[in-house]
Amino acid sequence: MSRIYVKKMQKGFKLTIDSIASDKSISHRAAMFSLLSDKASTIQNFLEAEDTLNTLAIVEKLGAKIERGREHVTITPPKQIQEPDNVLDCGNSGTGMRLFCGLLGGVKGFFVLSGDKYLRNRPMARVAKPLRSIGVKIDGREEGSKAPLAIRGNTKLKAFDYQSPISSAQVKSALILAALRAEDSCTITEPELSRDHTERMLKGMGADIKSSYQDGAYKVEVSPLHAPLKPLDITIPADPSSAFFFAVAAAIVPNSSVRLVNVSLNPTRIEAYKVLQKMGAQVEFIKKEDRYEPIGDIVVEYAPLKAVEVKEHIAWLIDELPALAIAMAVAKGKSIVKNAKELRVKESDRIKSVVENLKRCGVEVEEFEDGYAIRGGKLQEATINSFGDHRIAMSFAIAGLLSSMEIEDVECIATSFPNFISLLRQITEVSYGD
Ligand code: S3P
Repeated sequence: MSRIYVKKMQKGFKLTIDSIASDKSISHRAAMFSLLSDKASTIQNFLEAEDTLNTLAIVEKLGAKIERGREHVTITPPKQIQEPDNVLDCGNSGTGMRLFCGLLGGVKGFFVLSGDKYLRNRPMARVAKPLRSIGVKIDGREEGSKAPLAIRGNTKLKAFDYQSPISSAQVKSALILAALRAEDSCTITEPELSRDHTERMLKGMGADIKSSYQDGAYKVEVSPLHAPLKPLDITIPADPSSAFFFAVAAAIVPNSSVRLVNVSLNPTRIEAYKVLQKMGAQVEFIKKEDRYEPIGDIVVEYAPLKAVEVKEHIAWLIDELPALAIAMAVAKGKSIVKNAKELRVKESDRIKSVVENLKRCGVEVEEFEDGYAIRGGKLQEATINSFGDHRIAMSFAIAGLLSSMEIEDVECIATSFPNFISLLRQITEVSYGD
């Protein structure tokens, strides 16, 4: 278990970062969706991090041929997805596991999905139950709700209308992938739009998918596939969730600014930047292109921050809430996060991880079942428990810029942002310990 020590900064920084890790959600999908075509897909800037490399390895075990160049990956799909001769390891990735459930549920064969101790503890009933109801045989630990999951795919899935009780892109995407193999058109409804990369990418590949709002809820209609889709030809933008750590860094360190280059500006992914703006930071979005997704630069500049309430559009900033908690901890006044119960089932229970670690930093914080209240003030130097969660480790590493921090168990950072520490070193001193 290794730890890092992040040294407090003496002065501000001005930085342009053009090497933020590529988008994790889009990278997972690009690898998986290439299996839905009969031609080779080309993916520029595929995220070379543990989570997405696990997905790529699974795609290979399902029969695809993978060629990795310096900046691109070419994936040639098999004629038919093959039954692998061993367990498929999703590592730490909920996206990997849940989307593969949907993708493989409609394929002939037997597939076992497993992952690390954190993933094996995360809820899978949210995809297993609806998939079971349309004819997928899927079982696992704890009444079929925890990994390892054993899937016996069914090539004749029943058409369905599924109303998801939660706004989850992983649930929605798993069901969209299953719907592509169903006997007739299907609909999936969620209370509020969650990130929509699956819809955008599959539409770009030629799938018949229609999105609309109905009675305040978001609805996707999916027609079954009658022929293979067009291959993907995609350049993956930088991940706005990874870039956000440096946005917070610029927003909390006086006399600082950062330009984050070629980030996805998908509206379902940049809400946290808007919250930072509401707190007083200078934030500018500069759109440069639009291919599957709007893409551009985000510039963030320091300003004294004020408290904020975050109760809406939670799905659009769920992954950024730990980093936002650092901004809240130094803002003037009491900030509140509510309606964010989903935080409890991420890579760690992020309500507990944020609350416990902020307390270690001497911050006044109150825990709710679905969020927390943070009274802004000064952070004290502390030793942080990452709980094996990459976003907790990186959020508190950024807090270290204001008052030095020791972060324990930082290997997890490699799941999404392997060059995070080298980028942080462009701002301050970071040393490693055992
Ligand atoms: C993701 C969706 C979100 C997000 C996760 C990635 C995706 O999870 O928190 O990091 O790529 O679909 P939920 O869909 O479970 O909310």
